[in-house]
Amino acid sequence: MGTKLKALEFFCGIGGFAFASKEFSENLELVGAWDNSEHVIDIYNRNHRSKAVQKNLDAISGHDIAQLDADLWWMSPPCAPYTRRGKQKHLADHRTKSFLALIEIANQVRPKYVLLENVVGFESSSARRALKTRLTGYGFWDGLICPRQSFGMPNRRKRYYAVACRDQFELSINPPVASTIQPCSFFLDQDVRRKVPPEILAKFRKAMLKVDMESTDLSVFTGAYAKSWVFSGSYLQAGEDIEIFSPREVLNFLGFPSEFEWGEETTARQKYKYVGNSLSIPVVSFLLSEVLKIEASRSS
Ligand SMILES: C[S@@+](CC[C@H](N)C(=O)[O-])C[C@H]1O[C@@H](n2cnc3c(N)ncnc32)[C@H](O)[C@@H]1O
Repeated sequence: MGTKLKALEFFCGIGGFAFASKEFSENLELVGAWDNSEHVIDIYNRNHRSKAVQKNLDAISGHDIAQLDADLWWMSPPCAPYTRRGKQKHLADHRTKSFLALIEIANQVRPKYVLLENVVGFESSSARRALKTRLTGYGFWDGLICPRQSFGMPNRRKRYYAVACRDQFELSINPPVASTIQPCSFFLDQDVRRKVPPEILAKFRKAMLKVDMESTDLSVFTGAYAKSWVFSGSYLQAGEDIEIFSPREVLNFLGFPSEFEWGEETTARQKYKYVGNSLSIPVVSFLLSEVLKIEASRSS
């Protein structure tokens, strides 16, 4: 392949896309990243050489983005408008303003590729219709991918993904099916795991999802893990104790590298929140490898 694709990461959080893109550094260069949270920008900039900028994307200018002349956009817009447990207001929710602004800008700037990640629920939303119809002249693939089913990671994290490709109308992307699933024990860390406090166990023990070291089926870890004790992730049964997976272990389940740094000022609560918002690296890597195949076939 000739020149490197230049990529942008919108709603970058702690940089799940940036980590996945490192594997493709010969063919892909990250040239811009944005998020409106000052704290996640600090964490991002500790971990990635490309400097992310704190900005409310409701008000980003098409001119600034056009100047970066990027080929590939990755976006993980806020998922609250589509979550099953939320009000599901879709485009009527004010938190979709930045997403709508960005697809209008994409339609003017016309990057070669626009990739999006969101929660299950997005696929039947008015936002998906807007993505498909307002980006004109793009081929489109979308689907749900779970890192457990496709890449043998032990925890479930089924998410909606879309790939829009300018002037390329026959898109076929087939997520693999993993032949084995790795056990939880592969992902555990030296960090001392905290025990679930007795008063919490007294209230929630029955309802909490519990797994053991050899389990290959952990539930999705949300940003509310270890705050909401039910339906926010699995807990580890270790003899009589029930333990809370550490933030590092939740990063491991998402495929983050060991060198990831939080910075000393980040609390455990914040870590669970940010990692709960982030991405499964094997899934993003898969989609990037598919895009690079499309790019190679275009330029041959
Ligand atoms: C689903 S998370 C994306 C996480 C990211 N993909 C990662 O790997 O960590 C959505 C992110 O959008 C940011 N965000 C929400 N509304 C925003 C806005 N209007 N402008 C910029 N960032 C926003 C949040 O701070 C959050 O980090």
